[in-house]
Amino acid sequence: KRIVVLISGSGSNLQAIINAIDAGHINGRIEHVISNKADAYGLVRAEQAGISYSVIDHKAFDSRESFDAHTRQVIDKYAPDLVVLAGFMRILSAAFVQHYHGKMLNIHPSLLPKYKGLHTHKRALEAGDNEHGCTVHFVTEELDGGPLLVQACVPVSSDDTEASLQAKVHQREHVAYPLAVELICADRIRFDEAGIFLDDELL
Ligand code: GRF
Repeated sequence: KRIVVLISGSGSNLQAIINAIDAGHINGRIEHVISNKADAYGLVRAEQAGISYSVIDHKAFDSRESFDAHTRQVIDKYAPDLVVLAGFMRILSAAFVQHYHGKMLNIHPSLLPKYKGLHTHKRALEAGDNEHGCTVHFVTEELDGGPLLVQACVPVSSDDTEASLQAKVHQREHVAYPLAVELICADRIRFDEAGIFLDDELL
């Protein structure tokens, strides 16, 4: 399968997927990495892995739609089967999301449907939750709202801070995201007009 990854920052999830591909767990190849930030460390990771990349600076466009249209053109040059949002900190327009329906994944640092949006670790602490985690989901027009694919939990302890919780969740992301990509690339999970399809063994 052909994969394009979109990032904005450190790219540790990108790295986890690169590692899983190198280890032979994923039947796929990252064709291209796109960052909306020129200084994203994830670009260094792409370079080190020999993956081509582009910087598309959203500030150079006069609207969300024009940024999205250009990004879509660049993505589609690589004819991806899967578009992976890995710490990509831009909200995507409806037309963009619809174009990749069933083909685009995101990772969110909470146990969705809890804590859509920002500051998830702070919110989990404030709520006194004893469990927190991350979710890989298909992207739909509803922000952080598409069908859930893989979740990983971490226990919350009484001495956890926002930073310690974030670090714990981040580690679990590096397991959850490659697993989700692996399941999709092996055609064991699909999301299309008919809804979600799961391989019998996953039921
Ligand atoms: C992750 O915490 C992810 O959940 C959030 O952005 C972060 C990306 O981290 N959406 P990295 O760039 O993959 O290291």
